[in-house]
Amino acid sequence: MTQDELKKAAALAALDYIVDDTIVGVGTGSTVNHFIDGLATIRSRIRGAVSSSEASSARLAAHGIPVFDLNGIDRIPVYVDGADEIDGRFCMIKGGGGALTREKIVAAVADRFVCICDASKRVDTLGRFPLPVEVIPMARAHVSRELARLGGQPRVRENFVSDNGNLIIDVHGLAITDPCALEGEINQIVGVVTNGLFASRGADVLLLAGAGGVERLARDASPDATRD
Ligand code: 5RP
Repeated sequence: MTQDELKKAAALAALDYIVDDTIVGVGTGSTVNHFIDGLATIRSRIRGAVSSSEASSARLAAHGIPVFDLNGIDRIPVYVDGADEIDGRFCMIKGGGGALTREKIVAAVADRFVCICDASKRVDTLGRFPLPVEVIPMARAHVSRELARLGGQPRVRENFVSDNGNLIIDVHGLAITDPCALEGEINQIVGVVTNGLFASRGADVLLLAGAGGVERLARDASPDATRD
């Protein structure tokens, strides 16, 4: 199977986690695009979606799925999103598509985070994928210096502006042994909007597609893991 076929298999498995007659939290990226296409096939079972990016909103709307403003919603039972890396404790690096801030906001509201990935995203230690950090433009140089002080090599993502009008700095060369601590430390740098470590709020369920099928893994409940 190709990587895209694996992404699609993980994405379609996530349809089993949708709670009927509720608003679904929807992430961003090529894996989530397959999820949105799958969601369209069960459109009549959901009230609609809250989206984490302009791109996902447009795809949802094209399928006729109502997109709600998060401020009018008080409960999202399930949030479905991909990841750039995920470790054994279901901490993640996200933001390869630059949507990390809105993703983190929707995930914070959701009861359950279902992560959909192909097997290449599973790592022992986070950090080979450059860590995205969303930054207010006037703080670019200051934040870059502070990120270098933490041991990374910051590079401003070229020709990219986030949906919130900000820059993304990708931090290379970090060996992330304590994701929760680093997430908090980077968020303390003045000028940082948020960073792509999803550790204090990680995934609850991982749907990991590999050659042998889709593994369904629950955080802290590995004995119940199943494979399709
Ligand atoms: C976007 C993200 C994506 O979930 C992440 O980059 C994975 O993308 P893909 O599904 O295309 O591999 O965090 O900001």
